Formats: sequence, C-alpha cells, structure tokens
Amino acid sequence: MSYNEKYMKLNTKNSDAYSQEEILPYAVAGIEYLQFLQQVVDTQDYRTDESSINLPTDTNILDQVQQLATAKVSGSLRYIFVVGIGGSNLGTKAVYDALYGSYADWFSGDRPRMIFVDTNNEATLKFLIEVLIPALNSPDEYLLVTISKSGGTTETIANTEILLEKLSLKFGDAKSRTVVITDEDSAYWLASGELGVDRLPIPAKVGGRYSVFSAVGLFPLLVAGVDVVSFRQGATDMRADCLSLDPSSNPAIQSSALLAWAKSAGYVICDTFVFNSELESLGRWYRQLLGESIGKEFNLDGDLVNCGITPTVSVGSTDLHSVGQLYLGGPKDKITTFVHVNRRVGIEMPVERSFPTVLTTINKKSTVDIMQAILGGTKMAYNKKHMPFMEVELSNVSPYELGAFMQFKMMEMMLLGKILKVNPFDQPNVEAYKIETKKLLEA
Ligand code: PA5
Repeated sequence: MSYNEKYMKLNTKNSDAYSQEEILPYAVAGIEYLQFLQQVVDTQDYRTDESSINLPTDTNILDQVQQLATAKVSGSLRYIFVVGIGGSNLGTKAVYDALYGSYADWFSGDRPRMIFVDTNNEATLKFLIEVLIPALNSPDEYLLVTISKSGGTTETIANTEILLEKLSLKFGDAKSRTVVITDEDSAYWLASGELGVDRLPIPAKVGGRYSVFSAVGLFPLLVAGVDVVSFRQGATDMRADCLSLDPSSNPAIQSSALLAWAKSAGYVICDTFVFNSELESLGRWYRQLLGESIGKEFNLDGDLVNCGITPTVSVGSTDLHSVGQLYLGGPKDKITTFVHVNRRVGIEMPVERSFPTVLTTINKKSTVDIMQAILGGTKMAYNKKHMPFMEVELSNVSPYELGAFMQFKMMEMMLLGKILKVNPFDQPNVEAYKIETKKLLEA
C-alpha cells in the first residue's frame, strides 16, 4: 500500500521488514470505524470525542479568530508571547518553527516573532522581564496569548500572572493586549470575562493534542502571519482521503495498521526521523499525540494493559551521528517514520573547491543530492538490518502541507486507538500528576 497525492506521499512498501499481507488484518477495526467518523463529519457538531475532525471546515471558528486578530494586530506588532503547554502550544510551535524556523529574524525583520513560554523556566522569564519587555515602546508591539483548555494548568496560569504584572507595570494596562483561549465552562473563562479580557473558546470535546485547528492554533498562527485558510484547506483535503474506505487510498488506515502490527511484533518505540531540521517541532507535536493517545494503563474494557508505543524524534542527518549506532546496532524495538521534503533545488558545491582532493564524491553535487544520498543510504542500512520503517514525503513546507500532515496524523491516532482498543482522547495519568502538584502547592 502507498498513498500518492501531489502534496504528500506515504510509502509503506520500501521496508523489507514486513509484508503488506502482515499489515492488512490490523486495518479491519479501523475501516469499520471510518463509517462513524464520516457521520461525525456529516453532522459538523462537537458532541463526540472525534469532533476535532470538524474544525478545519468550521467557518464560525475562523470568523471569530479573524475578527479578533484584525482588532489586535497592527503594523507595530513585534512579539507574540504564547503562554501554554502541551496540547496548548505544541501544534502552534510545530507550524511556526517549520515555516519560520531558527533563522526567520535574519531573513525577515518585519514579521512578528513568536515567543513560547511553556514551563516555569526562570531563564525564559528573566529574558522577557529584563530584556524584551523593557525594550517595548508601546503596547501595540506585543500581544499576550494565554492558552489553557482546562484553564487551570499551574505553569500556564503562573506564567500569565507574572507577565501580566510586568506588562501592567510598564504600560498601566495590559488587559487590552491579552487574549485568553480556554474552555467556555472553565474558571479561567469566567475570570477573564470579569477582568474584561478578550476570549476565544475551545469546543469542549476537542482535547488539547487535537486542537491545532481550533482557536488554540489558528489565532496565534494568524497573528504571526501564517495563511491559516490554506492550513485548514490542507487538513480538509486530507480528512477526505483519511475517510476513504479503500485502504489503498487512505494514508491513516495504512499507517495505523502498520503501527499496530509493529507494536504486536515487539517494535514498541516509534521514531519520527525528520530529514529537514525545521520539522523537529512537528516531530515533537506528534510525540505528544502518540504518547498521550496510546499510552494507557487500562483498555476500553477496563482491563489493566499498560499499553503504549514510545515516541521519539530524531533529526537527520544530525542524529545519525549521535544515535545512529544505537538504532542500527542496538535493540530491535523501533519502527521509524522517515519524514522528508521533496526539495528539488539545493545549494551547489563550488566548481572551484578549496579542498579538491578531499571527499571527491561531493564534486558537482548539491545539498539536495547529498541529503538524498544520506536518506537513501540510511533506508538501505535499515533494510539490511530488517528494521521496519515507512516514509512520508511532503511536497513542500507550507501551511497547506503542514495542515494535511497534522490532520493525517490525528486521524491515524483515532484509528490506532480503535485498533488497539484504548481511548485515544483522554489522559487520566497526566491529570494525576496535575492533582498531586496542586496538593503540594497547597501545603
Ligand atoms: O493533551 C493534553 O490534554 C495535555 O497535554 C494538555 O494539553 C496539557 O496538559 C495542557 O493542559 P491545558 O491546555 O489544560 O493547560
């Protein structure tokens, strides 16, 4: 099986470690579930756990986000402080880093810069308090976007309080430059309303890790200048493909069945090996999606199963030089998803080389040629060791492809939960640590 669209290809045929016949039986439970997912899309409501799949075509959400962004953004905007953690910031960061990356500021000085404040890290807060905030000339130069689905996550509320105090001290009022994104029935929603802060809701049934197409992702990305219409369109087109009852044209069925097979065959670590460094945060977004969705103590029947596939993220070719030895020589417990971009134009080697006698194989080659050879060589080495892998090729790194990829992975996860008989939408054990933390802070 493979999936071949002009914007994304999925190849499950290049690996020698499994056959299509071995995978197909795992697809059955997923295919049965697709009819239900189609009904969810047909109703376009938010009554089921799966309803995040309705977000890419929800025009109300887009209108709300666009209206508030128009009111808050001017040409003076320089910094967007995104305060949130886990499902409340990983999707936004994945898209922002993929599009603008580490060097954005050197290429385009006029685009607002997004600064992510997740954990309660003093170094980050000190930088904001002692460097960035003092350098602001007017409130229009920043926007504070604070995101928490539950409205009660310790790190997010604490960071918001600290930044709001510093910004209020500087400008007198910081409320008008703050946007709260949370559940409508949360205490945070009520308190923000009482304070007069602008708010955007998250549909109650949409969990954090499935929320990137809600205001959680759309608002900060739009404010940062991302084409969220195209981002949603990529997801919408991919959703249609991931609803196909024909496994040969449904990438989510193919990859969920492969992951289920891998788990049963003892490959309990899933490495997302991105061969474009700017996709590392996308890999980290997927890490949460797989880790929290499938890592479950109990199955749907209430039996203790301690289910899980441990997600890791590697960056090619960088990490071949750090963990390649472990991957190729160590335990046979990993299935890999190679993710790469079909770049055609690279940077050419100089015709007149400075060290012409050293490594003559790179003569007349470009960076694309070199990276393709490294990826090709890695796949061959994996095959020689019978290490299972699949391959995702994106045609480009643009909002459209990113939207398609993220929708593909979220639907893959719903199907995988169904196949493995665990609930991919809850995270009871994360709540357990949050409850204990609050108890310790109360003491
Ligand atoms: O996926 C999840 O639900 C979690 O990772 C949450 O996103 C994370 O704990 C942050 O929670 P909240 O958005 O409620 O602040």
